[in-house]
Amino acid sequence: MSNTNPIGLFDSGVGGTSIWKEIHLLLPNESTIYLADSANAPYGPKGKEKIIDLSVKNTELLLKKGCKLIVVACNTATTNAIDHLRKRYDVPFIGIEPAIKPAALKSETKSVGILATKGTLSSELFHKTLDLFANGITVIEQEGTGLVELIENGQRESATMHTLLKNYLSPMIEANIDHLVLGCSHYPYLIDQIKDILPNSVKIIDSGEAVAKQTKSILEEHNLLNNDADAPSQKFYTNGTISTLQDLIGAQYNIEHFLF
Ligand code: DGL
Repeated sequence: MSNTNPIGLFDSGVGGTSIWKEIHLLLPNESTIYLADSANAPYGPKGKEKIIDLSVKNTELLLKKGCKLIVVACNTATTNAIDHLRKRYDVPFIGIEPAIKPAALKSETKSVGILATKGTLSSELFHKTLDLFANGITVIEQEGTGLVELIENGQRESATMHTLLKNYLSPMIEANIDHLVLGCSHYPYLIDQIKDILPNSVKIIDSGEAVAKQTKSILEEHNLLNNDADAPSQKFYTNGTISTLQDLIGAQYNIEHFLF
């Protein structure tokens, strides 16, 4: 595998671009290929087997395009499928998991909230993380039902979004949380709306920057960092609506359609 090959990323849709942005910022020399499997969004309510099946399809497409490392830019796919992917394929995989550890470590009220999909909150990996890092902390878990669909439909600033977020966050405010963990790569796109609802004192944590740093260190470890001076390319593919993805990444990038 050549170090000029691209980094591959996939998500159930447009949300993983929040991770792509952090990676592109930290590693501007790298070429990337982003797959938005929006036609199959949301992954959250699907069972583990289905999530594994879709993750395999995304991975195979990225491998066919020559990716040297794959970022599973989706908490639901990471918590349900990354073990399977690592056993099945030779390339390094980076996953994204809810940042429970830093939230629990820094919490002074000993109460933290997590907003994530059903698939993430019910996964074995998430429960292991809670057992390891959230001892003595009250963790208010909330499924973000409907949020991914609204983002995918370009309605992140809608009144419906505000109502859903208010319903989901109110019990957390009552429980005096001082940290909110965003356990889904779509949710960083809701930070402004969430800030309007939560008290200023609540810190919002997502995992994007940590994933970018981990990507860099794994590339270094495998001698795969791109040191080539040639202009790297950023490619985007979706099997859903182009406009939602374009809105989030900016007009300067070209987007193509893909089919599994
Ligand atoms: N971005 C995905 C995640 O991080 C959304 C999951 C879904 O499609 O439900 O979990």
